[in-house]
Amino acid sequence: MRTAAVVPAAGRGERLGPGTPKALREVGGVPMLVHAVRTLARARFVDVVVVAAPPGEVAAVAALLADHEVPAEVRIVAGGASRQESVLLAVASLPPDVTAVLVHDAARPLVPVELVDAVATAVREGAEAVVPALPVADTVKVVDPDAGFVVATPDRATLRAIQTPQGFRREVLEAAHAAAGAAVATDDAGLVEALGIKVSVVPGSEEAFKVTRPIDLMLAEALFARRYADGVR
Ligand code: CTP
Ligand code: MG
Repeated sequence: MRTAAVVPAAGRGERLGPGTPKALREVGGVPMLVHAVRTLARARFVDVVVVAAPPGEVAAVAALLADHEVPAEVRIVAGGASRQESVLLAVASLPPDVTAVLVHDAARPLVPVELVDAVATAVREGAEAVVPALPVADTVKVVDPDAGFVVATPDRATLRAIQTPQGFRREVLEAAHAAAGAAVATDDAGLVEALGIKVSVVPGSEEAFKVTRPIDLMLAEALFARRYADGVR
């Protein structure tokens, strides 16, 4: 089984504030994308990494990844207008012999390699689709955004926050994206669920959090400082 990692990195990072596209912003002295690609490439079963770069930054991303040592084959494609489109474009350029695909956000630079290995292993052992999940700390309510009142409170014990990498059998991911058409999901597993295919769950990692807002960048900086102090590179 040959495994690829697809890295959607084409977003602008609007919630982080104005500046360079988010995946190219530095944390721990290195662009977030480089951290993510390095960790994926170091994972046990990842043979090739395909990055969906911001459309205007394909050459810059190629130069950046050439500058940093990455222990796997890396390909770069231009991403799309939405995360879903970026993933679709990257999947379309996968080598034909790839049978398993991990999709990992460039914006999760601290993902532990053990989590990547766990997701890849679940796919190798027969899961059609697998997501890392964490219990939620806050109570989550369904609200009517227009009227501004609460509609329902799902039992927190049944809720999980879902991270990446998400892992798929290649045909399953391709079928899910093909069937989605104009429908949108905030993650790839959501498209697989819409086909009625079972999505497995593995324990997530607090370090796999997504850098979304300025406070996340501060947390990421602190965690990289600690890793470097511990001698981890
Ligand atoms: N992404 C992508 N193509 C897009 C939009 C997002 O490849 N057109 C990627 C981002 O680069 C990121 C991941 O999808 O690695 C998760 O998306 P998100 O955290 O929402 O990043 P952004 O879209 O960049 O941020 P924002 O929504 O705040 O603008
Ligand atoms: Mg976004």
